[in-house]
Amino acid sequence: MIRIAHVSDLHYDQSRQLRATIERLVELVADAAPDLLVVTGDLSADGRPEELDEVRSMLRQLKPIRQLVIPGNRDLERSSGPPGEANPLPPDSDLDFFLTLEPALALGLEEDAEADTDSDDRWVSRFGTTEPAFTGRGIAAVGVPSTPKLSGQSLTRAARRLRKSPDAFRVFALHHGLLPVPGRKMREGDVIPRAGDVLSLLCELGVDLVLHGHVHRAHVWRIADSRGEILVASAGALVNDGRLDASFLEIVVDGPFVEISRRSVATGRASSLYSSDGLPSPEVREARAVARSR
Ligand SMILES: [Fe+2]
Repeated sequence: MIRIAHVSDLHYDQSRQLRATIERLVELVADAAPDLLVVTGDLSADGRPEELDEVRSMLRQLKPIRQLVIPGNRDLERSSGPPGEANPLPPDSDLDFFLTLEPALALGLEEDAEADTDSDDRWVSRFGTTEPAFTGRGIAAVGVPSTPKLSGQSLTRAARRLRKSPDAFRVFALHHGLLPVPGRKMREGDVIPRAGDVLSLLCELGVDLVLHGHVHRAHVWRIADSRGEILVASAGALVNDGRLDASFLEIVVDGPFVEISRRSVATGRASSLYSSDGLPSPEVREARAVARSR
């Protein structure tokens, strides 16, 4: 059995309220002791070094748990917008080129030179890399940065890493979305450019699960094409934006079965978002029974 926790959009601004929320989250994740914790960006409210340092030290309390931490737009670009507001993404360049060149990802994947920017340096000095990877416990997970854009080079490196573990449960993590989600009026930049082509590539790579944040909605889509199916899961946010309570996702993989739950940070209660056994979750069955009895 594989267990993964997925946290996103902490938006830590050094407020006492958010610090308490993150400390509670750390307790819940420590108790759950998943095989892997994935954090999909926007750890900080404004990318300030003090914010990133404090979040890093809070996550370090979970040191025995393996972590895959990637940056969000707020961590790499200064923003003064309200929580969750996207910075517009610049037009694609090398991703377009990459997808045109190699729609099936079959070319010899040559390593590209790393080209760190100042904002990347600020992140890398604290979290090691903007493209983390984890292999072990039956999982092959890769993370890619999507700020200012998802690059073809990042995809190439992710593909190479995933291909090294053909039998593992494959996880692809990024900050921005690949699909719209219910309950959110989508903003420009929520979904990455060429998301359809990226999803097609992930199908080609046999990715089982995409984890993303940015949209502040806990949701799971199951999509499929002729080559297979992918679950695309987004985590809620930890920031209190006045509409939703803080939450994170818990994923349990048991052979061919996958169960994904949203867990409230305030109450610790879990509610099922998705179950691959083909049966509705207990919550859905109960809601249907209530609706029928009216
Ligand atoms: Fe974001």
